[in-house]
Amino acid sequence: MVADLVLNSSVVATQQWVLRHKNGLKREIEISRQTHPQRYDFVAALLASGGLSAELQVIYAQLSESDRLWLAEEKILLPASEQAENITFECPLDLTLPELLPLTVRQQLPQLSPEKRALFGINPRMVLQTEPDLDETYAERVPFREVFSERRPVLWVREPLYEMLLPYWPSPEMLPIIQALLAGQIPPDLSDETFHVLVLARILLLAKPHEYVQFQTQMAALMKAKLEKEQYLIFQQWLSPILLAALRGYYREIKQEGYLFAENSPDAVRTCAHNDPLTCYLQTQMTGWLNRLLPEAVKPTYTFVSYYDQTGMGKHIDWEQCAWNISVMVDPVPEEAPTLTWPLFIQFPETLVEAHLEPGDAILYKGTDFPHWREDLPPGHRATVSLFHFVHQDYVPAKRPN
Ligand SMILES: [Fe+2]
Repeated sequence: MVADLVLNSSVVATQQWVLRHKNGLKREIEISRQTHPQRYDFVAALLASGGLSAELQVIYAQLSESDRLWLAEEKILLPASEQAENITFECPLDLTLPELLPLTVRQQLPQLSPEKRALFGINPRMVLQTEPDLDETYAERVPFREVFSERRPVLWVREPLYEMLLPYWPSPEMLPIIQALLAGQIPPDLSDETFHVLVLARILLLAKPHEYVQFQTQMAALMKAKLEKEQYLIFQQWLSPILLAALRGYYREIKQEGYLFAENSPDAVRTCAHNDPLTCYLQTQMTGWLNRLLPEAVKPTYTFVSYYDQTGMGKHIDWEQCAWNISVMVDPVPEEAPTLTWPLFIQFPETLVEAHLEPGDAILYKGTDFPHWREDLPPGHRATVSLFHFVHQDYVPAKRPN
């Protein structure tokens, strides 16, 4: 009987809101109606009306000073100039090489004789996504996909060495070529430049699939032994050069839109993005290969995009969430010495390593164990570096990441 029912007197209304602002983070704010009734009702009304209506402006003026301050501090109300635009990532796949392809790659493109072309085959692990959503099998391999462009189709390519799943957005001119490749045919009339695009995107491969499996196994064994001996590893072209070109553009865009925040620590003056969703996607793609090399199974903790235009990074060791680091050189500007291969110094007990990474190269080392640093950049030089951090898979954080 309804008449016998009473309201549980302990029920308290709380609400959780998720918002994003220009440091690139998504945050969750929880608020209780019991402790802050005006605040709670105001935000609920604000969301229901979709904006600060004339009526709500009157209510806003009647709020307490602390409630108005809270709305500003939490960036629920903010100046229009600070509004976060939703920046998505798209890696175009066109007939021509992308403008931001690293010079080091552009200058080393091989000549393509007919005999050389005949050595290439088609990557068998590719899927063309034409629907808005991925099917279930694929979807679980693509976290953080809110960052990807909604334009379709998307070509998902499994990179054969490091096993990364790379997304490309073919142009209308490239699409028939991709469809031919998916049907098992390499069109005979491809220009040299288009052929290079397909090779750099890991769509055309030099070896056959079973050869890559053998090569991967041998590489993993060699790298594991090298890591054990030297305590660090360098991976050349860790990122496909076509993807890297798009990543350079994306990082410039998030910087331009104000998504990086300033860090002025004793170690460095730089601007950063913490857990940028695209960078986090790449991190999830690295973990499998990494776990074939490391002495312990690891899981990702967080990522950092670091943009340096003044200082380098003072000598330091990292905190516990950076047990293993991968540092990738993404965007040196200008592409010339010393910034082109801006060295990362790592002090090991016996040796000092000066690692020179070209764009797209990565270095792996234990950030918590070995002091590392970068020297200051010359005036007018700047560099964007992606940092990926990993910990033992059983690690439980003592405190939240800052
Ligand atoms: Fe560090």
